[in-house]
Amino acid sequence: MFKSDLTKNRIAYSAPSNIAFVKYWGKHGRQLPMNASISMTLSRCCSHFQVQYYPQGQGRIKSLIFEGQEQTAFKARLQNYLDSIHDVAGWVAEYDFSIHSENTFPHSAGIASSASAMSAFIMCLCHIESMVGDKTLDLEHASLLARLASGSACRSVIPHYGVWGEHTGFPAGNDQFAVAFEDFDTSFAQMNDDIVIVDQAEKSVSSSAGHALMNAHPYRSGRIDQANDNFRVLINAMKVGDFESFGSVLENEALSLHGLMLSSDPSYILLKPNSLAIIEELKIWRHQSKLPVYFTIDAGPNLHLIYPKSVKESVAGFLKQVKEQFSVSVIHDEIGSGPKQL
Ligand code: PMV
Repeated sequence: MFKSDLTKNRIAYSAPSNIAFVKYWGKHGRQLPMNASISMTLSRCCSHFQVQYYPQGQGRIKSLIFEGQEQTAFKARLQNYLDSIHDVAGWVAEYDFSIHSENTFPHSAGIASSASAMSAFIMCLCHIESMVGDKTLDLEHASLLARLASGSACRSVIPHYGVWGEHTGFPAGNDQFAVAFEDFDTSFAQMNDDIVIVDQAEKSVSSSAGHALMNAHPYRSGRIDQANDNFRVLINAMKVGDFESFGSVLENEALSLHGLMLSSDPSYILLKPNSLAIIEELKIWRHQSKLPVYFTIDAGPNLHLIYPKSVKESVAGFLKQVKEQFSVSVIHDEIGSGPKQL
């Protein structure tokens, strides 16, 4: 387990992944979103980073060890990132860094780790900046730096629910950094996310390629209107505790995201037959049980079942049946309070 040790110039953070309810899909300029998005910050799917910093350096990453092994591709990605932020975090050019990192979820789980990894790394950087520079550690700055690393990472530094992007129905929202959505009904305070691992393979088309395909997408302007409408309805549903409207937007967003992939040029498919089969099972079970359990899907084949903690026991029964029938595994996660210093 990594730990901060100020006597050795070492700072360590744990930061979580997040799951989007209204999806960010498509961007412009310097990592600015095409539409406003909202996500739930998770609690157990986390990345841990320990960053050791050396004064009188040149902005170099000396080494990056991920789960005990040197990772040259990841190191090069973080180096490119550091080189790109001199205008907003100029101090990094005067230090060198060595990094250790690990994930709390299995590498083969098919869960994207860039949001948790980038936000953990950036929390370490912001903490170091607060000690060696004149900036105090604040989440807006951390979120902005995380956005420049990986768009959706900007929401992972925000506790509970993070909103990223301008929207007339949410005045605090802005394209530069994510902010907290706090005005939700208490029925949304304790939420679970059971991640059904349908396929563990790394996805065939990256999110960056998917965002790029939105530039000339025939449904681009329709998607912007749809996302804006969905955002408004979902936020209002969470404010008043209306699970039915919430669930209907949640599932529409998941299928729309994959619909955009299906209709991109070139088109591609990330869903697997079992993703659809389990959705059908969920719908039948929900119709019978009348419980507020809804799915969402990220840019991959795995399903996230989102529901209030109060119905956890019943969902466990449903998942037992799903696991047996489809030979899938499940990672249990829940709403979380954001990054923590280790
Ligand atoms: O942050 P990126 O560039 O990996 O994009 C992620 C986009 C989705 O996960 C599909 C949706 C979202 O809002 O998180």
